[in-house]
Amino acid sequence: MTPLAGASTQGLVGESDLSRAVDEAAECTALQPLQGNLFEIRFRAPEVARRAQPGQFAQIWVEQSHIPLLRRPFSFSRAQPREGVVSFYIGAVGEGSRRLRRFSPGDSARILGPLGRGFTLPDRPGRSVLVSGGLGAAPFPLLGERLLERGEQVVWVNGARTQSELYPGELVPNGMAELVQFTEDGSQGRRGRVTAGLLPSLKGADRIYACGPNQMLAALFALISESAFEEGGAPQLEVSIEAPMGCGFGTCLGCAIPLRPGAGGEGPVVGLCCRQGPVLRGSLLDWERLLQQPEHLG
Ligand SMILES: Cc1cc2nc3c(=O)[nH]c(=O)nc-3n(C[C@H](O)[C@H](O)[C@H](O)COP(=O)(O)OP(=O)(O)OC[C@H]3O[C@@H](n4cnc5c(N)ncnc54)[C@H](O)[C@@H]3O)c2cc1C
Ligand code: FES
Repeated sequence: MTPLAGASTQGLVGESDLSRAVDEAAECTALQPLQGNLFEIRFRAPEVARRAQPGQFAQIWVEQSHIPLLRRPFSFSRAQPREGVVSFYIGAVGEGSRRLRRFSPGDSARILGPLGRGFTLPDRPGRSVLVSGGLGAAPFPLLGERLLERGEQVVWVNGARTQSELYPGELVPNGMAELVQFTEDGSQGRRGRVTAGLLPSLKGADRIYACGPNQMLAALFALISESAFEEGGAPQLEVSIEAPMGCGFGTCLGCAIPLRPGAGGEGPVVGLCCRQGPVLRGSLLDWERLLQQPEHLG
């Protein structure tokens, strides 16, 4: 287990704390195939499980080979410190995720994490709305569990193009006030995009947490900015965004994301998704420029 202590944690917008990350040998304890190309994989990695916070991610190296050469980033979908277990909700789309899909209990990998900045958990209980699209559902079981433990009222609005891409309802943590499901083709839940039917669920929200395609996140940011909220104003929005990642800890500079000029005072106009994100306040991002970036994440 190799700590990453000593790396800089100074930053104008705020950066992840690399001193908490470890590189741990992990053993697969279970793999649950889900519909379509989706699966949930569980690893025994006690130190990572103890440290992982909702919205943070791990860089996973499939140990049996050097293909793919680089580790792949995946959000913690669950972290159970007492059991020493972390889980990931993954779509098999390329070499790395397809290799993980072929894992069996007993197979080994290396997990570097937790990395990145996670979601801000509230000091006092209130009402949270989680909004996700497609694989953007991945960090929300862990976030939902941690919010519920704090007495928060949690509503989850989750959407996908079609039923086979929708996070399975039976894996949603118990105790949610409401689970609202959307599919664009109407194959499960309500027909349409999450952002189209979202406003009623946002009523009375103290905070909104979102993860999904950039188009969805930008539409959500616009919706919140343009809507007339009652006394108390617009709820706080935090979004988890994705960028192609090499290292995951600020060295390769491959995960640039556009920030609003002046965000964070004298802040930079380009940030690193792996250090300043992946979770950021919606108001810090330059949405126009973000939408011009190529996106491969559905
Ligand atoms: C912070 C962060 C957290 C992430 N969390 C998760 C997570 O929890 N679960 C998850 O499944 N993914 C997650 N991803 C995305 C995941 O890291 C990428 O999909 C990764 O590239 C998969 O590696 P691969 O080797 O399988 O595919 P690659 O070889 O990297 O990609 C193969 C091909 O598939 C395309 N592709 C890659 N990802 C997708 C996608 N999602 N949908 C459609 N096409 C795609 C690529 O453009 C490429 O053409 C996360 C990414 C980041 C940055
Ligand atoms: S992934 Fe290397 S700097 Fe962010």
